[in-house]
Amino acid sequence: MISRTRPSGRRLRTLSASGTAAIVAVLVVSLLPSLAQAAEATLGAAATQSGRYFGAAVAANKLGDGAYTTILNREFNSVTPENEMKIDATEPQQNNFTFGNADRIVNHALSRGWKVRGHTLAWHSQQPGWMQNMSGTALRNAMLNHVTRVATYYRGKIDSWDVVNEAFADGNSGARRDSNLQRTGNDWIEAAFRAARSADPGAKLCYNDYNTDNWTWAKTQAVYNMVRDFKQRGVPIDCVGFQSHFNANSPYNSNYRTTLSSFAALGVDVQITELDIEGSGTTQANTYRSVVNDCLAVPRCNGITVWGIRDSDSWRSGGTPLLFDNSGNKKQAYTATLDALNSAGPGPTPTPTTPGPTPTATPTGSPGSASEIVGAQSGRCIDVPNASRSNGTRVQLYDCNKQSNQSWTYTTNRQLRVYGDMCLDAAGSGNGAAVQIYSCHNQTNQQWNVNSNGTITGVQSGRCLDVWSTSNGAQVQLYDCNGQANQQFRLAPLA
Ligand code: G3I
Repeated sequence: MISRTRPSGRRLRTLSASGTAAIVAVLVVSLLPSLAQAAEATLGAAATQSGRYFGAAVAANKLGDGAYTTILNREFNSVTPENEMKIDATEPQQNNFTFGNADRIVNHALSRGWKVRGHTLAWHSQQPGWMQNMSGTALRNAMLNHVTRVATYYRGKIDSWDVVNEAFADGNSGARRDSNLQRTGNDWIEAAFRAARSADPGAKLCYNDYNTDNWTWAKTQAVYNMVRDFKQRGVPIDCVGFQSHFNANSPYNSNYRTTLSSFAALGVDVQITELDIEGSGTTQANTYRSVVNDCLAVPRCNGITVWGIRDSDSWRSGGTPLLFDNSGNKKQAYTATLDALNSAGPGPTPTPTTPGPTPTATPTGSPGSASEIVGAQSGRCIDVPNASRSNGTRVQLYDCNKQSNQSWTYTTNRQLRVYGDMCLDAAGSGNGAAVQIYSCHNQTNQQWNVNSNGTITGVQSGRCLDVWSTSNGAQVQLYDCNGQANQQFRLAPLA
């Protein structure tokens, strides 16, 4: 990967030829390490290199704070409303829904092309008074109604929902947390997930919790067992959120990577959802670096969200746990985080934990020859809008025109290349993940199986290329393979 950030140029005065050559040689040697790696200048851009996002918890009432939004807009490409989507905020009176503050955050993000994490649909805490006083069937129904109404309102806008938050007890019991929701029956969590799936089939559905970062802790194992059970029984769960609030009582442990990879091996994505690390200086910076490296080592770790922007924005401001100080200056922890994200670049990552399906046929046309990819239902071709060559441009259906932005070459290592050096790339692995173009690298989110049944499946995700409609401009996404015509494509060789 070549650095996209150029070293600052300095004008050389007149020198002898040999002197110039010597300086050039020294410069080349000293720049080699940085040229060998990507060097993006912001957290979001650095994370995007490996197909991940970097987000922040955002408070609606701070969007008018210029210092705050300057950092937000510069550094991040995903948001989580810190409090504005919680039950007390969105349904203050039963069946009276208010989305104003949440909408301000969602619109701020979507208008800039960022992701939104929805937080949270079902939780024992921050319930409005009317819900706190409910129990039994009435509460169960009210909870399901809340999940359905809120997820429906935001349908199509949310990348990942924290469907259920913090449902397990701390300590060594491995038990569910006692709460009014738990007392409606042990199946309340799966009921919430099913309601969320029905309401917004395109969003990734996450279980989110804290003190689940250390692989040896009973709470971690209890959540792991629940997720395994859900996957075995077909309960619709796509991801697990690790809040990752680290401090002296809940310190970072090097087995965190094992935690992330073990959950991913169950067939779910993992996300770091509320990261903050109390401390300062080098110690804090090193822990941030370790957390980032652990995420980067797990292909299904989609992204990282820090729980606030400046230390003064934190729910634990006294612990100075964030990446920017009270004045908005970058801390040592920021530099360590950025460097870690950049050091990954788009380089190889470990083999995915859930293998994709084996290709059942080679595509029409021989490897190396260009084809158009034609949708069986639409008759339209997979097209790069406006012949863009920018990383992250989402592909669409469009009338076939045999031009270079519809000309794809299936390579022997299962990439679908356009313009020679750009690849069809999955921006995530869950249902609804965007399919885009990105500079080719060797990761499995750029590898595709072209199957004899007409589907094209992502090696990383196992999911099918899928389109929402047959129209010009219909976006291409990943979705669970369902045997329907909107997931059928053929590679038609271009003469
Ligand atoms: O806005 C009101 C203000 O008008 C009022 O005067 C003041 C009086 O206490 O309260 C203000 O609301 C507070 C709100 O944060 C906004 O600052 C609430 O009291 C306070 O309870 C609330 O705390 C939030 C906390 O969740 C509630 O559980 C934190 O901001 C928020 O960061 C925190 O986030 C949670 C995640 O949702 C779940 N994981 C843990 C994480 C940290 O606790």
